[in-house]
Amino acid sequence: MEGNDPADPAELADLPLFAELDAEELDRAASLLTAADLPTDAVLVAEGRSGGHLVLLGEGSAEVELPDSHETVSIEAGAVIGEMAILDDAPASATVRATSAVHVFFCDADELDELLELPGVHERLRVLSKDRHADNWSRVAEPIPFTLADGTSLTLRPIRRDDAAAIERFDAELSPESRRRRFLGAATLTPSMLDYLINVDHERHFAWVAETAATPPRLVGVARFIRLREDPASAEFAIVVADDLAGRGLGRFLFDALGVAARERGVTTFVAYILWENTAMRSIVNHFDPDVRPDEPGTMYATCAAPDLEPGPIRGAIVRLVSR
Ligand SMILES: CC(C)(COP(=O)(O)OP(=O)(O)OC[C@H]1O[C@@H](n2cnc3c(N)ncnc32)[C@H](O)[C@@H]1OP(=O)(O)O)[C@@H](O)C(=O)NCCC(=O)NCCS
Repeated sequence: MEGNDPADPAELADLPLFAELDAEELDRAASLLTAADLPTDAVLVAEGRSGGHLVLLGEGSAEVELPDSHETVSIEAGAVIGEMAILDDAPASATVRATSAVHVFFCDADELDELLELPGVHERLRVLSKDRHADNWSRVAEPIPFTLADGTSLTLRPIRRDDAAAIERFDAELSPESRRRRFLGAATLTPSMLDYLINVDHERHFAWVAETAATPPRLVGVARFIRLREDPASAEFAIVVADDLAGRGLGRFLFDALGVAARERGVTTFVAYILWENTAMRSIVNHFDPDVRPDEPGTMYATCAAPDLEPGPIRGAIVRLVSR
């Protein structure tokens, strides 16, 4: 990428990567970056190319062309691109192309080393980068087919950020009783809750969705775990299954599949708040010799070993998918 102008510190202040910098530190960041205006279709990062640049998208939009897939992922102003290749000193794993005229800031490895010394930049780069990679991973993950004991064909895949509408529909179709059991009384799905449920990093917060094999598929189950801050080897789990599919083994399958993903990420213990009256959930957990203690009135706190699936092709496919 050919250099144009020095970066303007005032423009850098709007980038999430530099949110914690004061005026002096922004001047320092600006001295390490070059600004460029590029047209639609300009290649910002070329797949397979080594020794690339860190690129910060100041204005405009771009898309990542995911390898081994026809999928593209849109990225918007504020995004950081090319950081993995430059930090790992490896060829870029995907091509990123401008989808509008863009204003970018860029630097090479030496300048990036200096940028990383500015307050908060290292941590923010790590988070922004992890988020984008989690999103890319969930988009290219091929759904895994599985069959319930009664022959119903379903598929399993990680939740994606574009699942908002499907989750809203799924939630709207849940009976009040199922919703009460899932959310222990907190009833309505607010926009911020929805955002939290779909924007997962698949590492600390992981979620599977089960869908019918129909076209278009219907989302019929969600299982998630969220690691405990104080003990990352333990995670709180939650499962919910569409009412018309309840009692057919989907809850148990999702629980076991969640355990496989959890174990692959080093989570060995599952915990959950469960209503005493929730016989179905208690039956599932009871297979794992849980430690149970009363919590709020009507609720128990159960702790058990993270479950697992029988060895076989489905478990193998899940392990391959989650370890990618
Ligand atoms: C709890 C839930 C996920 C279970 O899923 P499911 O697909 O219905 O359960 P499964 O068919 O896999 O059955 C699991 C066990 O529950 C038992 N079970 C299922 N439905 C039952 C019911 N209505 N009454 C009593 N037991 C029931 C099954 O017999 C089975 O027991 P087993 O393992 O001893 O054979 C589902 O009922 C649900 O979504 N409930 C509302 C949300 C919720 O309560 N989530 C849990 C919050 S942690």
